[in-house]
Amino acid sequence: ANDGTVNQKRQAGEAAIRYVEDGAIVGVGTGSTVAYFIDALADLKHRIQGAVSSSEQSTAQLKRLGIPVLDLNSAGPLTIYIDGADECDPCKRLIKGGGAALTREKIVAAASEKFVCIIDSSKQVDLLGKFPVPIEVIPMARSLVGREIVKRGGQPVWRDGVVTDNGNWIIDVHGWRIADPAALESELNQLPGIVTVGLFARRPADVVLIGGQLMA
Ligand code: A5P
Repeated sequence: ANDGTVNQKRQAGEAAIRYVEDGAIVGVGTGSTVAYFIDALADLKHRIQGAVSSSEQSTAQLKRLGIPVLDLNSAGPLTIYIDGADECDPCKRLIKGGGAALTREKIVAAASEKFVCIIDSSKQVDLLGKFPVPIEVIPMARSLVGREIVKRGGQPVWRDGVVTDNGNWIIDVHGWRIADPAALESELNQLPGIVTVGLFARRPADVVLIGGQLMA
């Protein structure tokens, strides 16, 4: 990442703080942009109840900074979820999972009223799919899912050596130009062995901050 990108990540992370209300339980995503948000959240830690985390990585940072980490099952519905993305289209539909945390990210996003996505401008695209689509699979289904992806015109690449927080594997799908991301997300969700598709189209972001700027 160049300096401009790093600055925009920091600005986006800090700008997201304005969406955190007093007394909130904050849903927290994963990645280098979210890391700036967590740093900023630490300054408000006495005004919030705590955070629900989407990864072991974010949990470690939250705990290190003294922010209470709560269990989603006891936290109930959340008002706000803050997370980054790998790609974002003009309808605020996303590709996520570059950091392999997509399953818990999708769960916490789904449990939240408002999803604020924080990105730098390099993540903006007209059409999703240049960034390979991460798919979390049950290990024994890797080849099966790979064949199903090939049938649908994609090139599956196993992220060899990576095990998710849930004990599963990641396939990255290259070569898709995704005209209808919600339809593809629904279709892939039906395939046995797929745990989570890194397309956030059926539930896009509500607010996107590109650096400190609000996307229209
Ligand atoms: C994590 O699995 C991803 O969904 C991240 O949100 C994404 O990779 C963004 O990461 P950066 O903020 O590090 O670019």
